[in-house]
Amino acid sequence: MSIKLKTLDLKKRMQSALQGGGAKAIEKQVAMGKMTARERIISLLDPNSFHEYDLFVEHAAKDFDMDKKHLPGDGVITGTGTINGFPVCIYAQDFTVAGGSLGLMHARKITKIMDHAMNLKIPIIGINDSGGARIQEGVNSLAGYGEIFYRNTRASGVIPQISVILGPCAGGAVYSPALTDFVFVVDKISKMFITGPEVIKSVLGEEISMEELGGARVHSEITGNAHFFSESETECFEKIKKLVTYIPWSNQKKADPFPKKAPKTKQFKIDKIIPTDPREPYDVRDVIRSISDDSDFFEVQEMFAANMVVGFGRLNGQTIGFVANQPMVLAGVLDVDSSDKAARFIRYCDSFNIPLVTLVDLPGYLPGIDQEHAGVIRHGAKILYSYSEATVPKITVILRKAYGGGYIAMCSRHLRADFVFAWPTAEIAVMGPEGAANIIFRHEIMNAEKPEEVRKKKVAEYKKKFANPYVAAAHGYIDAVIEPSETRRFVNHALEISAQKKEMVPEKKHGIPPF
Ligand code: HXC
Repeated sequence: MSIKLKTLDLKKRMQSALQGGGAKAIEKQVAMGKMTARERIISLLDPNSFHEYDLFVEHAAKDFDMDKKHLPGDGVITGTGTINGFPVCIYAQDFTVAGGSLGLMHARKITKIMDHAMNLKIPIIGINDSGGARIQEGVNSLAGYGEIFYRNTRASGVIPQISVILGPCAGGAVYSPALTDFVFVVDKISKMFITGPEVIKSVLGEEISMEELGGARVHSEITGNAHFFSESETECFEKIKKLVTYIPWSNQKKADPFPKKAPKTKQFKIDKIIPTDPREPYDVRDVIRSISDDSDFFEVQEMFAANMVVGFGRLNGQTIGFVANQPMVLAGVLDVDSSDKAARFIRYCDSFNIPLVTLVDLPGYLPGIDQEHAGVIRHGAKILYSYSEATVPKITVILRKAYGGGYIAMCSRHLRADFVFAWPTAEIAVMGPEGAANIIFRHEIMNAEKPEEVRKKKVAEYKKKFANPYVAAAHGYIDAVIEPSETRRFVNHALEISAQKKEMVPEKKHGIPPF
């Protein structure tokens, strides 16, 4: 056969493979409001950058008439490309081919592209749309998942791993996304659960829809499994494109710098954000935007544990991980979920050389039977662990309240913040003035002729003495008490001089964080 004929033959084979599950299956996919797997990859990557591999991989299963079935690409598309010029390895499960179910060769294609990502030290993006383990392939499917989970774990903290849930992701399949760094979901399209509604009904007699059980909102607001929620696949891809601008290719690198840009100070007036009354809330994201380059802030897990705000921005053109209590929600307390959220984000930033800026305003850990029984001791310890463990530059600014365990936990000097600054509005104490006065002056108040008057007087005394930054500053726990308008200048300088920071950690295989 001539080269021309062989090329024609190749083109024919490619065309056939590119049909995926065929016109009818594609029609069904589109009717569900979903893009096809290939469309998804093309939409996400830079134009003409996608290079596909293993297009001709075929399954070798024989049981249950599988030997009579041809599954193009074995239901998954894999390859490499770029996003904003940033190289990535990618795979997308093709639901039009056997429901994107995972058989042996399907898994081998995924693990091969994951191995490339690890060898090349570039991110891996997985687009999940699958009915789970291919039932006809039995234990080979389970083996395939096991191989993926192992690689997810080995790659954790080495290369960025991004999961996109664009269809069902059921059974054990959910554990690959759960092991990755960022999970993107789309309203009405993403569905994640270990056991579906049918099983729940037959075992427990409880009825629930797929959406209510494991839809995008559930995982964004309640479980915290998802990090980014979108209304459409297109919006979701825009968010992924934005995320990759903040993160480095691997733990060997730093995120690419951006041109420095001043904050939009007309819109975000740092002196005006905190209300005069210390009991009044405000949106801490305005403080972040009042200091970050171009007032940019890309929030992570926006809908989950909103009493804690985490996300990326830039200072001096360099990516920063912001961690901040949100006084607008539950007064910014630390609880089970907010501790988990912050701890995970801190560990991400530390793994990928992203400095941390922490903004503090919280009354402490949330009291209550629910919290105690939900394990606030164990979960709350995670934030202490992750800050203490982190060796990237750590800058803390105390805006207002920093009471009790909350003061320690929010990257205090004692957990090795490199620099701690406090605004004149800061109140650093063991607990709030009301609570403190009621305890230490209990007898005086109880025995007074006018207990309420004495109580007010004692609260005022306590406030005057402790509800300020100067006692902590006198002990050197605060490096500088600064005017709010000086925050960007101080933090930028602290980051500049911390750029070469190298901290040695005690020799050990790994720690045992309070998982
Ligand atoms: C083989 C599968 C499959 C699977 C779907 N298909 N899931 N084939 N193994 N796990 C096939 C269907 O037979 C069908 O083939 C095609 O994909 C499309 O599926 P439909 O059911 O027609 O689509 P839809 O109505 O949209 O429903 C999607 C679905 C449903 C909700 C995902 O297919 C479903 O419930 N699948 C099984 C989900 C499940 O129980 N998975 C867990 C497996 S065990 P045809 O030829 O008719 O087009 C598991 C354990 C892993 O995952 C443990 C790892 C640690």
